[in-house]
Amino acid sequence: MIVVKTKEEIEKMQISADMLVNIHKGIKEMIKPGITTMEIEDFVNSYLKERGGVAEQIGYHGYEYAICASVNDEICHGFPRNEPLKNGDLVTIDMVVSLDGWMADSAWSYAVGEVSDEVKKLMEVTKKSLYLGIEQAQVGNRLGDIGHAIQSYVEGQGYSVVRDFVGHGIGRDMHEDPQVLHYGTPGRGLRLEEGMTLTIEPMVNVGDYKLTIDEDGWTARTIDGSLSCQYEHTLAITKDGPVVLTEQGEGY
Ligand code: MF3
Ligand code: CO
Repeated sequence: MIVVKTKEEIEKMQISADMLVNIHKGIKEMIKPGITTMEIEDFVNSYLKERGGVAEQIGYHGYEYAICASVNDEICHGFPRNEPLKNGDLVTIDMVVSLDGWMADSAWSYAVGEVSDEVKKLMEVTKKSLYLGIEQAQVGNRLGDIGHAIQSYVEGQGYSVVRDFVGHGIGRDMHEDPQVLHYGTPGRGLRLEEGMTLTIEPMVNVGDYKLTIDEDGWTARTIDGSLSCQYEHTLAITKDGPVVLTEQGEGY
């Protein structure tokens, strides 16, 4: 069931999204060779605690951390750990924040120190694919328009789009209907309406889109060991176009 939100409800989601944006800005300052993703986990937990925000991922299907931290060939759902990040690493930090029961979800990929040109290109293509998807999130368009915009661009750049994880509705629940596929056929799928709040969160691999899950039951990594990158925003569909609630001020 799709839960359409009122303007007032979207304003509440904007408040939790603002907190999430500020956390990502803090993380951006922290990321450098030598830092551990467990230090980022600790930063996020104390930031939220001080401000009455809730780390929604903790306890979600038994997940134990506020953040997912996925490094290099890890696609998503990596655990934060005590191992220092190295110069040249690519790390994606994903989290869901709630305030007064209203949620926002955003993942961002960060370059650790000086990264290779390959990593830079992967990051640019992945971020651009997210914004091309967002551009299609218009009243009257269909979900397939979003998926197609992402997939056609990414594959045109020689990369692949992960199939096994998708975007989703979000609001008072972390995962609401509909599922938002990052691939698809233009003109197909659910018609988008004013008041829908969705995440778009393409995961882009340099190699094959297929993945394996580690023995921890969570960490998804590329089947061929190739690099993977992800950017995710929470957005609201309005009659004036998509509003990116988790925008960090960069746009694309
Ligand atoms: N933030 C994730 C998403 O984009 C959900 C992570 S799964 C969890 O949908 F178990 F870690 F919470
Ligand atoms: Co997320």
